[in-house]
Amino acid sequence: SKDEMEQRVREIKQKLGKSLFIPGHHYQKDEVIQFADATGDSLQLAQISARNKAAKHIVFCGVHFMAETADILTEDTQNVYLPDMRAGCSMADMADIAQTEAAWEELQSIYGDTIIPLTYVNSTADIKAFVGRNGGAAVTSSNAKHIVEWALTQKERILFLPDQHLGRNTAYDLGIPLSQMAVWNPFAKKLITEENIQDLKILLWKGHCSVHENFTVQNIIQIRSEKKDMKIIVHPECSREVVELSDYSGSTSYIINMLEKAEPGTQWAVGTEMNLVNRLAQIHNDKTVISLNPQMCPCLTMNRIDLPHLLWSLECIEEGNPINRIKVARETAEEAILALDRMLAIV
Ligand code: 13P
Ligand code: SF4
Repeated sequence: SKDEMEQRVREIKQKLGKSLFIPGHHYQKDEVIQFADATGDSLQLAQISARNKAAKHIVFCGVHFMAETADILTEDTQNVYLPDMRAGCSMADMADIAQTEAAWEELQSIYGDTIIPLTYVNSTADIKAFVGRNGGAAVTSSNAKHIVEWALTQKERILFLPDQHLGRNTAYDLGIPLSQMAVWNPFAKKLITEENIQDLKILLWKGHCSVHENFTVQNIIQIRSEKKDMKIIVHPECSREVVELSDYSGSTSYIINMLEKAEPGTQWAVGTEMNLVNRLAQIHNDKTVISLNPQMCPCLTMNRIDLPHLLWSLECIEEGNPINRIKVARETAEEAILALDRMLAIV
């Protein structure tokens, strides 16, 4: 039963003490997040992992690229596990390393040495390594502005992987016109634009988040027509049009802080992952908090980490046969850490 499983998790946590560490992303289910030793957005979880030198077993409650990042940032003696290997990220999978290398070669032939790559942390370790060895940095949604600004002090233009929306929204906020941005289509192997390609500054990979793309202009029109006083706040993984029509946009932590500061009685429609929206609605029961899309929008891969998988992972560690270790190959990790360290040094 659920009670028994929860009891077992508590026992194992007690028994393993500080040698066990459970980080949990804000999009995780309540049944899992209740056992997290630290919760955070992607940036906070990367920073927490990099600082924690005591834990021998890190059971990562999040998705595969986050566990890889934790492995890259921790020591060899620290082992990172993902309770369910099917917890991937469809966005991270949209930037394939062979396609990225091919794009880079083509872009170098057009632009020479005037381009720097950036990657959202929502990417594979191979992509982070590619960015690291080519002088670029990782970014998260909460520091994207600073990193894009930094990158433009290094080179004239940026290749931004893999989320076109975060790239476009961030560059737009920095005053770069949409006419200086274009999407690289990895299948057509070309930039999709009608502008002069020499005028382009921001080259966006053709990737997106399958959760955040479900928030639409239509959802906003609906809320605006029905609920005049409702504020709309969305994650920058939403499309430019949706961000444009919203009242506020920002990372997961930004959304959490905004709702924390909001006056009692205020009303909020939130465009981000369902588990977080539901949690915010529970915590802030003096405010009205709903999902911007009535269909709710869960991240199916985040949800693969559930109580049974967490318990299974912990029991295997307790028995001395841990499963699902996430181990990034040394050469890949050595290059990927360049991209992560550049990011962590800037923010
Ligand atoms: P942040 O935690 O950086 O806001 O990213 C959101 C997300 O989609 C994580 O997968
Ligand atoms: Fe990936 Fe989007 Fe899920 Fe985050 S919410 S893990 S970006 S699919």
